[in-house]
Amino acid sequence: MSKDYGDYQLEEGGRGEAKEKESVSRRSLLSIGWIASLVSLIGPGLANIRYLFPNVLYETPTAFKLRKPAEYPPNSISFEEDRRLFVFNDRHGFRAMSAVCTHLRCTVGPFGPGKGATSRCPCHGSLFDKQGRVLSGPAPRSLDFFRLTESPDGRLQVDTQDIVSADMYFKV
Ligand code: FES
Repeated sequence: MSKDYGDYQLEEGGRGEAKEKESVSRRSLLSIGWIASLVSLIGPGLANIRYLFPNVLYETPTAFKLRKPAEYPPNSISFEEDRRLFVFNDRHGFRAMSAVCTHLRCTVGPFGPGKGATSRCPCHGSLFDKQGRVLSGPAPRSLDFFRLTESPDGRLQVDTQDIVSADMYFKV
């Protein structure tokens, strides 16, 4: 009897544990449900907030200042490597020529000394003269020249959106 009682107790205890396990699993299921609901609300909410900040590509300005004219030696071709630009200073005045190859936009190399100096593109070997003309390809066209002006603080200023002819000089 006592054994039966014990079994009964044991059985009751087992049922109690089973109920407890069942209630725990229900609780877990409820928690998972709540978490899933929150994620399904928060996810699209964050996506909508992200939508308010579009992917904008901030490009560098096309007009910028260079050095003061006196800082370019007479009869020189200065290579502004960070701007990918050549600044010519000769007896006619100043000119700014692009150093961006017209083939696939590599930066062309500096001009060597001498009258017939040329600039070679390191990527595929295009060769340019001081007028920007293509001496040998594969570059399809000449290098661009840009309008030069003087900024209020006395520096040369170039606008790479304003393309001019190779014989247009800026006189200080
Ligand atoms: S990028 Fe200059 S020759 Fe190809």
